[in-house]
Amino acid sequence: MKISIELVVLGLVSLPGAIAWGQLGHYTTAYVASYFVSNSTEAYLKDLLGNNDDDYLAGISTWADDFAHRDEGEYTGGWHYIDAHDHPESEDCNVDYKRDCKKDGCVISALVNMTELALNSQKSEEDRQFAVKMLVHFIGDLHQPLHNEDIAQGGTQLSVKWQGDEGKLHKVWDTLIPEKFTEHLHSSQNRRALEWAQELAGEISNGKFAAEKDSWLKDFDPSDSFKTVLKWSNEANDFVCDNVFIDNYEPSQIKGKELSKKDYYDQASSLVEKQIARAGYRMAAWLDEIARNNWHGQDNSEL
Ligand SMILES: *[C@@H]1O[C@H](CO)[C@@H](O)[C@H](O)[C@H]1NC(C)=O
Ligand SMILES: *[C@@H]1O[C@H](CO)[C@@H](O)[C@H](O)[C@H]1NC(C)=O
Repeated sequence: MKISIELVVLGLVSLPGAIAWGQLGHYTTAYVASYFVSNSTEAYLKDLLGNNDDDYLAGISTWADDFAHRDEGEYTGGWHYIDAHDHPESEDCNVDYKRDCKKDGCVISALVNMTELALNSQKSEEDRQFAVKMLVHFIGDLHQPLHNEDIAQGGTQLSVKWQGDEGKLHKVWDTLIPEKFTEHLHSSQNRRALEWAQELAGEISNGKFAAEKDSWLKDFDPSDSFKTVLKWSNEANDFVCDNVFIDNYEPSQIKGKELSKKDYYDQASSLVEKQIARAGYRMAAWLDEIARNNWHGQDNSEL
């Protein structure tokens, strides 16, 4: 699909205070996905979501955050992450579903559950709409390493420095790295997301990610959403050991350190770039299966 910048910009609303990949990250993953879904998926989702514009996915990509902040949606607050009780301080990163998913759910159970709901033709259109809005958000969240980690509550309780100011490690990864990385683009978040997605779609199609994009789907198994999400969660969690807490920035050392410096920022931002691209590309594959009603063997027994 070709997205016209001019058409999109005006329709977008600014939603402050997102708890996960900031708005920039979520909009960008959603726009990347809209480049790669099939034409029939696009038509199906535009109809289901009641939005015929190019922002049909981006426009709903942060809705799950708003919902979690409302009383009626409070029960979904824990669906945005999984608190892996591993040990990054000893270079030991892993996600164990039984150990780590709370009773009220986590990003893994939520993705499986929402996939099942999106596919259930017995359910109302409103329910399936809800499910797709959740999926578009959670596939993004799943790719933020610190959404797959318990330490200091996913880094939300760990103070670091960013360009001289104090901030939390979680926010650095959610928002500040993506924003710095895209400084060369438009200053409005929405337009910036669209421009960034265009760049990333180019890198995926015939740029630096072209050779590896097929490998991004090697664990994608439409017969088993649970297994697929668990693999992707473990992959993102590995980056907690490899990219969040690097040498000299181990959990015991990172407090108060400046993270916008080259030695930390360069490796962190190239991972963020890849995770955003990968999340969008995988989201497209996931939504294609939903639109074709092609997930099979959905099995909630593992939850
Ligand atoms: C998808 O739609 C675009 C225009 O919206 C068209 O150019 C393209 O040929 C279509 N692709 C397929 C496979 O039908
Ligand atoms: C699945 O989603 C439904 C609808 O939102 C919710 O009531 C239920 O608690 C969820 N189940 C799990 C295991 O998360």
